[in-house]
Amino acid sequence: MEVVVKESSQGIAQLAAELIAEVIRRKPKCVLGLATGSTPVMTYKELIRLHTEEGLDFSRVTTFNLDEYVGLLPEHDQSYHYFMWENFFKHININPKNVHLPDGQAKDVPAFCRWYEEQIVKAGGVDLQLLGIGSNGHIAFNEPGSSLGSRTRVKTLDEGTRSDNARFFKSMDEVPKYAITMGIGTIMDARQLLLLANGAGKAEAIQRTCEGPITAIVPATVVQLHPKATIIVDKAAASKLTREYPAEPRVLVLR
Ligand code: PGA
Repeated sequence: MEVVVKESSQGIAQLAAELIAEVIRRKPKCVLGLATGSTPVMTYKELIRLHTEEGLDFSRVTTFNLDEYVGLLPEHDQSYHYFMWENFFKHININPKNVHLPDGQAKDVPAFCRWYEEQIVKAGGVDLQLLGIGSNGHIAFNEPGSSLGSRTRVKTLDEGTRSDNARFFKSMDEVPKYAITMGIGTIMDARQLLLLANGAGKAEAIQRTCEGPITAIVPATVVQLHPKATIIVDKAAASKLTREYPAEPRVLVLR
């Protein structure tokens, strides 16, 4: 596991986008696992810039998103479908057929979750999985206490997560209570993990993720078991780390 500390969110975005672009250049038909939330927005902006200015080609890329709220229509402006199209997909040359997000409207949720897992396998597995982290240490919507071997399923959101996300809704009542999320086992199957965090609100979760013992109470700590994980944080999110970490990865081009 490699921890990299950047000066700013822009520094995180530039490095994260470069690592993702490297995977696409090396393997044009790659499979990316994507994340929503405020953290990856600048990374998507940087990838859009690489597409428009440097011709980064997404035409053969397949994507699987980590999660989606149960009960929100894809057109809802807080659904993760909407987020991904607005912030990323509509600005690049991705084939809509290659885009996958959990279906928050699925009638038979367990059947849908099995299908989603099968699609990931059929696509050849995820080459690089982008991750944010919750202030409570969740990854995707795998809340504290989630099985470290879990697969895609429905999860009840923690009240803390609902209040963290309430800023995007008109009232707390509108914040969904459930989400379909890739499991921790699903995430760990990816060939490479890239976890991003910025801001002091993530400092505790980052300290535990990078330096604490592995525990289901802080699901992100499981990345310590991954053979190829990079964690990129800004100074504020790094503020509770007790060891020194570099500003650049040891190997920029991860092969
Ligand atoms: P954020 O969410 O990027 O909006 O902070 C991250 C997460 O909850 O995984």
